[in-house]
Amino acid sequence: MKYKKIGDILILDNSYLGNDFEELSIKHNVKTIMKIDHIQGTKREPVYKILFGEETETVNKENGCLFKLDLSKVMWSKGNNNERLRIAKLVNDGETVIDMFAGIGYFSIPIGVHANASEIISIEINPNSYNFLCENIRLNKLNNVTPILGDCKIETPKFKADRIIMGYVKTTHHYLNVAINSLNEGGIIHYHETVPEKLINTRPIERIISQANGRDVELLKINKIKKYAPGVEHVVVDARIY
Ligand SMILES: C[S@@+](CC[C@H](N)C(=O)[O-])C[C@H]1O[C@@H](n2cnc3c(N)ncnc32)[C@H](O)[C@@H]1O
Repeated sequence: MKYKKIGDILILDNSYLGNDFEELSIKHNVKTIMKIDHIQGTKREPVYKILFGEETETVNKENGCLFKLDLSKVMWSKGNNNERLRIAKLVNDGETVIDMFAGIGYFSIPIGVHANASEIISIEINPNSYNFLCENIRLNKLNNVTPILGDCKIETPKFKADRIIMGYVKTTHHYLNVAINSLNEGGIIHYHETVPEKLINTRPIERIISQANGRDVELLKINKIKKYAPGVEHVVVDARIY
């Protein structure tokens, strides 16, 4: 059986056909069991079914961070675990970071906990995610994270940063120009894309170069995060823009 535990909630794989939910809840020590069919729309909201229990809010501990979230309202991608910590470890002392698609703080919270950034500007369009972002900033006792409720296309141009995280995989390339315009000389973007395997080494970096307004682009790394669909990978490209 395939399942994942997020806080004290068990998420069963859609292929699970059993109905021994009470037994499973005891075995895994969870209060609720759910299935999440898929994540829909720009705001990345779950389409779900509750199979056991009622409460869908929980606190998930990962990499020394606390993430409060409601799994009926916002998404959690276990497959992004390593990437969340990888980014936090890259942030240098005193950097200003913009997290353009901040969600509940998937990247902003680990950066706040593990790095020594001067400011992390976290922009999120979904009010449910934004409210959890604010709560997670408090839970993790962070004082250098500035949460903003709004569209990153409108909010990002108000700031300049040394590092910009674009942790979103739907039409992210439409936001590249805005991101690069807000990046200080020599700054780094972490650009996410879902890309057919044969285009991994070409399409994402070509898109970055095409939106860089003639600025020099240095490819630092192409990191495969996880399989997204058959033949399609979720990748992140780290690029320095001069
Ligand atoms: C769910 S996160 C992606 C997951 C994350 N990379 C992780 O580590 O699990 C993407 C977030 O971007 C937000 N979003 C989408 N469009 C946006 C926009 N134009 N401005 C700000 N936030 C946006 C969504 O509401 C969502 O919360």
